[in-house]
Amino acid sequence: MDRRRFLIASGLCAAGGLSGFALAGRAQAAPLSLVIQPARYALESTPTEGMVSLSPDAPPPVLRLRRGERFVARVTNTLDDYTAMHWHGLRIANGMDGVPYLTQMPMGQGDSFRYDFTPPDAGTFWYHPHCNTMEQMARGLTGVLIVEDDVDPGFDLDLPVNLRDWRLGGDSQFVDFYTARGAARNGTFGTLMTANWAQAPVQEAPAGGLVRLRLVASDTTRIYRLHLPGAQGQVIALDGHPLRVPVPWPGPEAPLILGPGQRADLAIRMPGTEGAELALLNEQPGGPRVLMTLRATGADNRRALAELRPLSANPLAMPDLGHAEVLEFVFGWSPSDTVENNGFCGTLGYTFWSINRVAWPGDASGTGPLAVMERGRTYILRLRNESPNVHPIHLHGLAFLPLRSNRREVAANWLDTALLLDGETMDVALVADNPGDWAFHCHVIEHQKTGLTGYLRVT
Ligand code: C2O
Ligand code: CU
Ligand code: CU
Repeated sequence: MDRRRFLIASGLCAAGGLSGFALAGRAQAAPLSLVIQPARYALESTPTEGMVSLSPDAPPPVLRLRRGERFVARVTNTLDDYTAMHWHGLRIANGMDGVPYLTQMPMGQGDSFRYDFTPPDAGTFWYHPHCNTMEQMARGLTGVLIVEDDVDPGFDLDLPVNLRDWRLGGDSQFVDFYTARGAARNGTFGTLMTANWAQAPVQEAPAGGLVRLRLVASDTTRIYRLHLPGAQGQVIALDGHPLRVPVPWPGPEAPLILGPGQRADLAIRMPGTEGAELALLNEQPGGPRVLMTLRATGADNRRALAELRPLSANPLAMPDLGHAEVLEFVFGWSPSDTVENNGFCGTLGYTFWSINRVAWPGDASGTGPLAVMERGRTYILRLRNESPNVHPIHLHGLAFLPLRSNRREVAANWLDTALLLDGETMDVALVADNPGDWAFHCHVIEHQKTGLTGYLRVT
């Protein structure tokens, strides 16, 4: 291993790649204390200053919770800026969802908020701030949240992979997190790509063993196109939920597309020969790029994918399509670029986007819901993208099943974020079984923060 690769591999250990830092759940004796704070960290050889994490010198930890068990975290904000913590994909009580003004007041410097919830679903989720989102996420505050199931599927290694970019100048310090040009188009891309805060880390994995790769696209902008040449594997979950309908194993022609906010769990069988490597590649302009390498170590474990126990389904209510009401949502340009935004929880200073031709005027605006759904009823959300850009549309507090699209075959697998291609109309179905006001927005943060936001109410 050359020096650079070695440094990166050690960086991965610091990122808690294998074990995670914080174990919550069954034996949780006291609330977990999470302190949002300034950090510095060597993403490159020179440490980057002015980062935001939950410790002064490490990435946000992997949080491990247990399905059906209460989790209590006291989140304290030490930043000189407002914040709130959101638990992306968790179908929990509305008051714990971490959306400023909608579900809680933003936390100022020195404030704490006690998050107390019981996750109903097992799977791969994540957490991030929902106030001053652009800045705090760009500075680092995106972490993986895993909800464990009682049934152990039988992996030899469980590996969370937090995929994200950074916008750094030549001195490894932050440059502008967005440009107006980017915000009005596909977003502003990072200059440095990382997995678990490391560039192309090398991760050891037992030869011939079974690995659960938990891919989390936590970047503010990038749409990943992923595959692992030569790997033997299976996609087992999307957006945390076990697949209902199989999806093909990705390859260079048909990579696994993960937009900001989305997750995929892959079951992989490592090669049996010590030292053999598998690369996680992103297909991008200029050619594929290695995001991470898995290297086989030790004697051949001779495991087979067929030995894995299937993941147990999450308790999601099946939509009753015979009695569904259709709600239409159009995502596109803002009809006006002079929308008043008071800047509470951060404004980018521009308005470019809208839902149903209304641009979100800011988090503290007191705007009404885009739609009201009656609790227990089935709805079909018709998601229409009238722009030439791709939008990962995310709904809080609920999960939905894609039904059909005008652009492609869609698989009826539970999601909390639907990636809408340019000009795509996708129908997704859900049962409105979680009461509250649920944020509904594009997860390209520059789109979210320049108008492409709203919320749905479940009565
Ligand atoms: Cu990942 Cu509104 O959130
Ligand atoms: Cu969310
Ligand atoms: Cu968007």
